[in-house]
Amino acid sequence: MKPFLTLAAALLFVGVTGCEGPFPQSTFEPTTSFAEDLDSLFMMIFWIGMGVFVLVEFGVIYIMIRFRAREGAEDPKPVHGNTMMEIAWTIAPAIIIVFITIPTVQVIWKDANNNPPDALQVQAIGHQWWWEFRYPELGIVTANDLHLPQGRPVSIQLNSADVIHSFWLPRLAGKRDMVLGRNNRLVFTPDSTGEFQGQCAEFCGTSHANMRFKAFVHEAADFDEWAEHFTAAPAPQEELTELEQAGLAAFREIRSPASNSCIACHAVQGVSAGILGPNLNHVGDRSMIAGGLIENTDENLASWLRDPVAIKPGSLMPNIGLSEDEITALVAYLRSLR
Ligand code: CUA
Repeated sequence: MKPFLTLAAALLFVGVTGCEGPFPQSTFEPTTSFAEDLDSLFMMIFWIGMGVFVLVEFGVIYIMIRFRAREGAEDPKPVHGNTMMEIAWTIAPAIIIVFITIPTVQVIWKDANNNPPDALQVQAIGHQWWWEFRYPELGIVTANDLHLPQGRPVSIQLNSADVIHSFWLPRLAGKRDMVLGRNNRLVFTPDSTGEFQGQCAEFCGTSHANMRFKAFVHEAADFDEWAEHFTAAPAPQEELTELEQAGLAAFREIRSPASNSCIACHAVQGVSAGILGPNLNHVGDRSMIAGGLIENTDENLASWLRDPVAIKPGSLMPNIGLSEDEITALVAYLRSLR
């Protein structure tokens, strides 16, 4: 009896804790009509599967009891070659597949033809291992934080800069691959404000699991304010503190090898134009750094600059051997980019 009680307690524990909210990254808590379509499709297939499971289990249990070996009982008659049964269990799965296929194809078509003319255009580009987000109409390039307005359709064009990644924002939209040289698209309308977790869903190398992002859905006016703020030019050099100016100098410094210079990979408006790493305009205002892996704080940024690979295994940003003074100055400068 004791092992059964232990098992029951364990199942109860898993069952109870598994249902505890909030659900930052669950497809079962959809917040857009697109995610709801996917959720209802899943639930329908789940219940069909459940029906099949119950029927099969009943059959198995019934047959086990009805035809069990008994003293003096004759062997049951084999059913091999029973035409009626063969036809029945060929047709039944075919009917089930039709019931699954029709709504699935309907959702695929609905999604593929969804191309609202007033949609906000966003380009999402997967990199090993961070996310680039571009808003061509607004002139904004940012990383790891995706800002969206509530109630307006968004059309996200998905690309990759290197290997295949997969854009996955479970509560807002399904997964879709990001492939170099191919334009995939994902269209949905965020209908609730808030913060939503996203994740790369295609194995893309050492730090695949560390390739995360956040989507922030704002009310329309707040989104406009964000966009206006993010297009503003950074403060001119004269307005920087002495420490921030030292940071800017360290940022600009051409090191040896030259690929170890910040400006080789990063862009800051009016300072540099690197494109290999995240664009750093307004980096001080972002919630996360290092591919959405750590929060954007002075301490985290300092640890990141000190040794990126220790934080994000395989990081393409190398340890460029900055001195502690340079790190302090760079943190002050980068955090001032707001
Ligand atoms: Cu990018 Cu996995």
